[in-house]
Amino acid sequence: GSASNEAFSGRTMFIFAAIGSAVGLGNIWRFPYVAYDNGGGAFLIPYLVALLTAGIPLLMLDYAVGHRYRASAPLAYRRLHPKLEMIGWWQLGICVVIALYYAIILAWAMQYTIFSFTKAWGDDPAGFFMSDYMQVSDEVTISFNFIWPVFIATAIAWLALLVVLMMGVQKGIGRINAILIPLLVVMFLIMVGIALTLPGASGGLDALFTPSWEALGDSSVWVAAYGQIFFSLSVGFGIMITYAAYLKPKSDLTGSALVVGFANSSFEILAGIGVFAALGFMAAAAGTGVDEVATSGIGLAFIAFPAIISEAPFGVLIGVLFFGALAFAGFTSMISIVEVIVAGFRDKLGLSRPVAVAVVVIPLAIVSLLFFPTTTGLNLLDVVDAFVNNFGIVAAALISVLMLTAGFSALPTLRDHLNSVSSFKLGRTWMIVAGAVTPVVLGYMLIDQLTLNLAEGYNDMPQWFVNVFGWGMAGGLVVIAYLLSKLPWSRRTSAAFTSPA
Ligand code: PHE
Ligand code: NA
Repeated sequence: GSASNEAFSGRTMFIFAAIGSAVGLGNIWRFPYVAYDNGGGAFLIPYLVALLTAGIPLLMLDYAVGHRYRASAPLAYRRLHPKLEMIGWWQLGICVVIALYYAIILAWAMQYTIFSFTKAWGDDPAGFFMSDYMQVSDEVTISFNFIWPVFIATAIAWLALLVVLMMGVQKGIGRINAILIPLLVVMFLIMVGIALTLPGASGGLDALFTPSWEALGDSSVWVAAYGQIFFSLSVGFGIMITYAAYLKPKSDLTGSALVVGFANSSFEILAGIGVFAALGFMAAAAGTGVDEVATSGIGLAFIAFPAIISEAPFGVLIGVLFFGALAFAGFTSMISIVEVIVAGFRDKLGLSRPVAVAVVVIPLAIVSLLFFPTTTGLNLLDVVDAFVNNFGIVAAALISVLMLTAGFSALPTLRDHLNSVSSFKLGRTWMIVAGAVTPVVLGYMLIDQLTLNLAEGYNDMPQWFVNVFGWGMAGGLVVIAYLLSKLPWSRRTSAAFTSPA
């Protein structure tokens, strides 16, 4: 493709892509339950504080690194300081792990969109998902007993990804996000509109929004708020660095960060309303309390929602809109995750886009297809997801912030860069918040999670399994990142190793 196709045509395209990355499963299946479980309406206070004191400031930091050094995460960090290259590879490694299992969740959402028409789960959605559909093995181990329908759907997801990434930054990534994000918003608004008319919906909303003010005195509620914001904005692991590198030199970065941060949170609150209206209906229909049916993640999407779809008026429409939205939200996030990897190897090896896409996507797809659409894939997904999110992302974000501040005092340079191109100017507050508040919070979260997992193990899973695919995977990423940072750069890229003006 032409060189111009390797940049976003303008700020609007970038914002669509950045929102596409941010709005994902975290908004739809994670936020509603986290809010409900951590003080309901009162949760909005720590949540907003976390957005303003961590989410948006770190988003700006990522944009600054990507936009000033105009490269993939490893090269951008290297240009900042050669010793920092490893951080970029670490972030890239996290994206590899997430990509491997994100594809299968996408496959489930695609298939459940179709299942919604016939309500394929009958009157037992839990049994259907676990036994009929995923055929989950009792044994927690690794097997290659493939579940072919899921295998094929996952392969289709990878193929779609390959096509979009081949088409380039503007014609592929930019355009697909500019189409899918508005569509996603419209679909979700209709879904929420229908959910609000269901009998019992108001009971669900009461359960979600009734504030428990005493929650504000509980440190775990604050950790949950910061955790949700870090997860939901996907700051600190290379995604926003990569996308910001594709922005034109004169681009309003801080203004964009505000738009993306608030758009993501708005979508999250909208999802909370839709999900809890539907759960309120489910509770009313079953004659139980909302607390009996409130849940998150796979249980919410693939067990609770099918039950709602079976019983609600316009159930088929709710199903198509809900699972379609889940698939679109997942796909646009997945694009951003894999583009981090493509960009990194492309820079390091001096490849053209089509070659880099093939070199990255084909092996990823093979590993993803080997390990996840199997009778043992669900347990693997569970462990890998928990460890990469609770330790990998948090630790990588912590180290990168510490390096940019205490390590190499890059914050003043990055702030000046942001101010030189942006409308919303940053002062000392941003430096203090990004440089001091966020590392403290991230450090606290990391210690909190470490002590919890060391004390209690993970989810009653066999320790060897957790050691290999949890701790081993998380530690392995650091080692691999170190080794990759020691490999030489392609002569083609190193020729362009100029420090930015
Ligand atoms: N932040 C996205 C969400 O809220 C998920 C995501 C994870 C996106 C990893 C990109 C990378 O669901
Ligand atoms: Na999000």
